[in-house]
Amino acid sequence: MLRRLHKIQPESFAFTPENQAWAEAQMTKFPEGRQASAIIPILWRAQEQEGWLTRPAIEYVADMLGMAYIRALEVASFYFMFQLQPVGSVAHIQICGTTSCMICGAEDLVGVCKELINEKPHALSEDGKFSWEEVECLGACANAPMAQIGKDYYEDLTADKFRALMEKMAKGEVPTPGPQNGRYAAEPLSGLTSLSEYESGKTQYNASVQLAADIGDTIKRIDGTEVPLLTPWLGKSKASPKKAAAPKAAAKKEVPEAPQAEVAEKKPRTMKAARKAGPDDLKLLKGVGPKLEQTLNELGFYHYDQIAKWTEAEVAWVDTRLKFKGRIERDGWIEQAKILSEGGETEFSKKSK
Ligand code: FES
Repeated sequence: MLRRLHKIQPESFAFTPENQAWAEAQMTKFPEGRQASAIIPILWRAQEQEGWLTRPAIEYVADMLGMAYIRALEVASFYFMFQLQPVGSVAHIQICGTTSCMICGAEDLVGVCKELINEKPHALSEDGKFSWEEVECLGACANAPMAQIGKDYYEDLTADKFRALMEKMAKGEVPTPGPQNGRYAAEPLSGLTSLSEYESGKTQYNASVQLAADIGDTIKRIDGTEVPLLTPWLGKSKASPKKAAAPKAAAKKEVPEAPQAEVAEKKPRTMKAARKAGPDDLKLLKGVGPKLEQTLNELGFYHYDQIAKWTEAEVAWVDTRLKFKGRIERDGWIEQAKILSEGGETEFSKKSK
């Protein structure tokens, strides 16, 4: 299948503050200079937030990671899990069409999708609520046929049961995921033949369904407020911004220690236009992509020597306007700009050329 960016694209993309904090935390999992390794989880979070990956979202993530847009697009267009076209506002339905499911009735489920959503996969229903596609084995073959809807699996389906699920979702309900024929998990329909001593002490649903029922985010667009942001690899765990504002007096005390220990901002000297010889190629600074270069130009920065002179307070001013806090310091823009302004080369500028 040809995977391209959709013809109609929104103007812009931005993470919610909580998702932004989550994405920046993912970047810290990788060694300095290897932040691009975080691309899959961050693209995935963008898709969880919006439902699909828009061009502005891909470019936004590329800018965050200091990658060329084409590199981020290569990742987004390679993996089928990334949706490159709008999906249903309520749910995007993925029907498994591989052997077990096909033998057990996947074609009937596809028939329901064609009837209720659209003849064509990856096209929206008339009311915009649903879209569908056929996918390869989702690893629930013992509960065939099945569909992944949002984050969860609906298994042991028939056309009628599937139709009923969709009707409930269209009304805003989220039916309980898992087997839809009364099975607990993947045991024989006639009941357990072994390990029956483990019957007692079971949770209401099997482990994954129980978790889905507890979290309740099956078809929710993820805005980052669902669970606290934990960063144990940084030697501390910190709550997401929204959760941080929550109760507990102790939590309040911790706030000043966190990233809020901010430097007062001061606007650096800016220029209305580049000098006669033309602007410097700011993309030769590691961490600056085409979009960030444009933003820097719009803010009035065209030359390495301007950046090389930024003070701490001025960095704080620029940081706020770039929306990627800490990026300037993390990538060492000032040190790089000093070298480039004196006619030298950095390892990154050499490679880029
Ligand atoms: Fe459908 Fe494996 S064949 S889940």
